[in-house]
Amino acid sequence: MKAPLDVNGLRHVAVIMDGNGRWAEARGLVRTRGHRAGVDSVREIVTESARAGLPWLSLFALSTENYQRRPRHEIRSLMALLRRFMIRERPTFMENDVRLRTVGLVDELPPRVVETIRETEELTKGNGGTVLCLALNYGGRRELLDAAKRFAVDAAAGRLDLEAATEDDLARRLGDDTMPEVDLLIRTAGEMRISNFLLWQVSYAELVFTSTCWPEFRFPQFEEAVATYHGRIRRFGRVITEEER
Ligand code: FPP
Repeated sequence: MKAPLDVNGLRHVAVIMDGNGRWAEARGLVRTRGHRAGVDSVREIVTESARAGLPWLSLFALSTENYQRRPRHEIRSLMALLRRFMIRERPTFMENDVRLRTVGLVDELPPRVVETIRETEELTKGNGGTVLCLALNYGGRRELLDAAKRFAVDAAAGRLDLEAATEDDLARRLGDDTMPEVDLLIRTAGEMRISNFLLWQVSYAELVFTSTCWPEFRFPQFEEAVATYHGRIRRFGRVITEEER
């Protein structure tokens, strides 16, 4: 059996899974076939993350812009895939000790999908291995706006001292207050953008872009992205020492 991924020093990997549509179109297939193939990559990346003991894996499965602007038939197909994934992968989550969490405006998704997500979150809530966080109907600016609103309400109610407030006080009011900052952000399919994903949490992330489309992003490509991360020196604004060079 191949050695697990080297996740030493990594707490949180986030992935913008791009290129399902292009992968399908390049093969003369309908775009939704690309999303179906993308689910196989999701399964492999989640399982490998769990095997390696990665604490957090966040996947950008659907942006608010995707949800509002894609053709209805594509969204319907994505919702069906997501629901099937939630149901079919429950044994995988349980066997691999994976806990499902979500960020985004999940409750605005179709009720049957919301119900399946909530059931899977509930079922896996005792699992202590990798947290799989799916960003669904998610936008980073909206997450920050909602955090700012909670911040203002708490300040007005006297629960927060504005003068003494810290960055952590805002971070605690984000969509998931248990989410660690992102160490490594991977984007597939050649685009080099953040696309409104985890804007606060990626502040000091190392960014790795690959031309591979998501349906072809599997263990070897994941390993390569992680190896690129290990080759980087994270400075966090400080000057690096001779030994770190
Ligand atoms: C981007 O490809 C991908 C998405 C909008 C959806 C990602 C969804 C999956 C991988 C499958 C379902 C997810 C789960 C968690 C089961 P794109 O369609 O924007 O590709 P393109 O840029 O080539 O058009």
